[in-house]
Amino acid sequence: MLILGIESSCDETAAAVLRDGKTVLSNCIASQIAIHKKYGGVVPELASRHHLENIVPVVNAALSEAGINQDEVEGIAVTQGPGLVGSLLVGINYAKALCFSLQRPLVAVNHIEGHIYSVPLHIACEAERSKTSNANWSTLFPALALVVSGGHTSLFWVRQLSHNGSQEEQYQLVGRTRDDAAGEAFDKVAKLLHLGYPGGPVIDSLAKKGNPLAIEFPIAKISNAKLDFSFSGVKTAVLRYAQVYLENELRGLRLHRKEKSFLEDLPQSIYDVVASFQRAVVESLFNNARRAADIYKVRSIMVSGGVACNSWLRDRFKAGFEKMGLPVYFPSPLLSTDNAAMIAAAGYPKLVRRHVATMSLNAEVNLKLA
Ligand code: KG4
Ligand code: ZN
Repeated sequence: MLILGIESSCDETAAAVLRDGKTVLSNCIASQIAIHKKYGGVVPELASRHHLENIVPVVNAALSEAGINQDEVEGIAVTQGPGLVGSLLVGINYAKALCFSLQRPLVAVNHIEGHIYSVPLHIACEAERSKTSNANWSTLFPALALVVSGGHTSLFWVRQLSHNGSQEEQYQLVGRTRDDAAGEAFDKVAKLLHLGYPGGPVIDSLAKKGNPLAIEFPIAKISNAKLDFSFSGVKTAVLRYAQVYLENELRGLRLHRKEKSFLEDLPQSIYDVVASFQRAVVESLFNNARRAADIYKVRSIMVSGGVACNSWLRDRFKAGFEKMGLPVYFPSPLLSTDNAAMIAAAGYPKLVRRHVATMSLNAEVNLKLA
């Protein structure tokens, strides 16, 4: 069965075609990073305007890359929320129009559920690529899923996912951020240090030259809800540290930030600050994930969302959970950040179960999972 996925919840316009929910025939993304870069963050008004420009070419590119025409699509999965309302509406309305004209079913997908599905989708892709027998999904569950991105930082206990729709998915939210998402903290710290946008990839690469133990940044512990996170404190701690100890360096960064090779030769203290900040964030993510894995007796750990690209996080989780005898799975970088293949993967079992949406489907800015 061919399913078309459409994603437009934030600043990426994306479309993908999957066969049977696990073979990716195309995965196209129009990124708006270049547009939002100069503002140091996503500007909602601009994002929706650019989704409008991109949606038709991106969907057409996904169909042509998959080598199919639109009549062959058997269902369309679209992100319903959470996300920016103007952005979500572009994808939803286009999906509705396409479903109406093709007379195909429409499936509404929670963006966070899409991120969770990106892990088993990646496992299935790898199995197909290496021509090994398809991974047995059931051995992975119950799993602990950490969704960690620019908009979300949440831990879910996942009872079961099924790619053939045979079982209803079951999620329980066991931890969430009380303030900033981890990716948001990366972006804000990069902004305050004049390192550019998005902050995650820049900090990841600069931190390789720094000492992660140079500065002990605090990480909040939420006393009455042990598995929740908080990242606004560490961001403020970096700001205070920079104001007190890095006044000259900050002036230099501000002056030279537009130069081409600016990031190649920074003062050692900047590398140390970003490495120490990154370590503090990753330790907090790891500590809560480890405690949750202990409490909920899971069989695997699944980490997804843009921050799952982070190299320090990947190493820390692999090493830490290996000691506990637990396998950790990450999607490829392309499936970690926002994409439509994950939306099609999460939508496929719903399509099989005929859990379809009506033409009155609306965007849900704060749509909850579990
Ligand atoms: O999943 P995503 O594309 O969009 C949201 O749903 O938010 O995640 C984007 C976020 C940004 O905050 C970006 O800075 C962060 O993921 N990110 C990273 C890395 N690559 C992207 N954070 C840390 N290290 C990275 N290598
Ligand atoms: Zn996302």
